Amino acid sequence: MLPELNPFRPGAGVRPPELVGRQNEIDLVDLMVAKNRARRNDGGLITYGLRGVGKTVLLNELHRNVDRAGWVTVQFEARPGSAGKLVSRQSLARGVAMAGRRMARFRTAVAEVRAAVSTVSSFALTVAGVSLNLGVEPSDHRANSGLMEVDLEEVVADLALPLQKNQSALAIFVDEMQDLDQDLLTALLAVQHKAAQSDWPFFVIGAGLPTLRRTLAEARPYSERFALHEVGALTRASAKKAIVRPAGQLGVAFAEDAVDAIVDEAQGYPFFLQTYGKAVWDLTPDRHIDLEVAGAGIAEGNADLDQKFFPARWDRTTAAERQYLRAIVDVGGSVASTSAVAEHIGVIPSALSPARQSLIEKGIIYAERRGYVGFTVPNMDRFIVRQVQLVD
Ligand SMILES: Nc1ncnc2c1ncn2[C@@H]1O[C@H](COP(=O)(O)OP(=O)(O)OP(=O)(O)O)[C@@H](O)[C@H]1O
Ligand SMILES: [Mg+2]
Repeated sequence: MLPELNPFRPGAGVRPPELVGRQNEIDLVDLMVAKNRARRNDGGLITYGLRGVGKTVLLNELHRNVDRAGWVTVQFEARPGSAGKLVSRQSLARGVAMAGRRMARFRTAVAEVRAAVSTVSSFALTVAGVSLNLGVEPSDHRANSGLMEVDLEEVVADLALPLQKNQSALAIFVDEMQDLDQDLLTALLAVQHKAAQSDWPFFVIGAGLPTLRRTLAEARPYSERFALHEVGALTRASAKKAIVRPAGQLGVAFAEDAVDAIVDEAQGYPFFLQTYGKAVWDLTPDRHIDLEVAGAGIAEGNADLDQKFFPARWDRTTAAERQYLRAIVDVGGSVASTSAVAEHIGVIPSALSPARQSLIEKGIIYAERRGYVGFTVPNMDRFIVRQVQLVD
């Protein structure tokens, strides 16, 4: 079919033609908006899942929805290291400044708005050295301690009343939340906790890798003010919908066994569904996709994944790390116990700690639960088997 009409879109953060299987999270945030109108705050939302399951796309969708509801929003992607730490602070300061700018136009609660804008100016200056021209001097006693948690809480406290009077809220969206520095993470969790206690209109909505789950467990009791949702593989019904609907809207139909083949191969992982969908569309000569075309598209899609998606990870590993990855595949497939890996390689577990740690830092594996590691990318095990076959 005409490639320019191809509805399927593999790509990081690229909105799919049909966002399926995420209604729970969408409803939860709609409920947040409704409760906020009634001046209630039951906490934020954090989603976690493997690479390519659709976390960024979902976060963007939730962002759009609260924007439409009149909320003031900030979104940034956390990055590791000290450069990332600086960028996060600048984004946060700029976002909060934007909230100040919007509020400067509020017609109600004028005195409170002035006070809040003054606190916002002080926050932007303290946290990121950003100087705002909002017609109000930065406060000399609010949000200027240099302690992130204290300053953020003061900003949120001072913004609360003017935002509430205008049926609005401040939402902070953080992607790749596992890379957030400890200081900012703790501040966001603690201020969300305080906001829920005080019914302040402040919400943190985050997304990250499954390692986040453990980080948050360690940050209890603050993290209890969050709904924690795993974003995972799509159910069979949703995966079918993700393929059939966008094509159907353009007058292209799939044979039942053709959809089944694509859904089986993708194992419900959104990135793979988009990849196969795109390849199949480009190959099909007419408006009916049968099993044969689907099979050819899957092969094409896999070739594409083998060239770009998987090597982006594999090529960054050392020989020792590859040995570790192969051992995971040999003993467990996609998840394996660290002691079994060590036994398989024939060394004591502690000898493998450096390789394990470095693979975790590279985002290739994660500590699935205590004593177990798993691949962050679905089907990585199958890719590794293919690599090993190539070498042999
Ligand atoms: N609910 C969905 N239905 C159909 N396709 C989806 C869905 N969610 C995401 N996708 C598609 O999957 C791909 C990956 O999405 P996205 O970049 O949001 O994943 P991610 O979890 O953020 O990945 P990463 O961990 O690498 O950042 C994109 O091509 C996107 O269009
Ligand atoms: Mg993402």
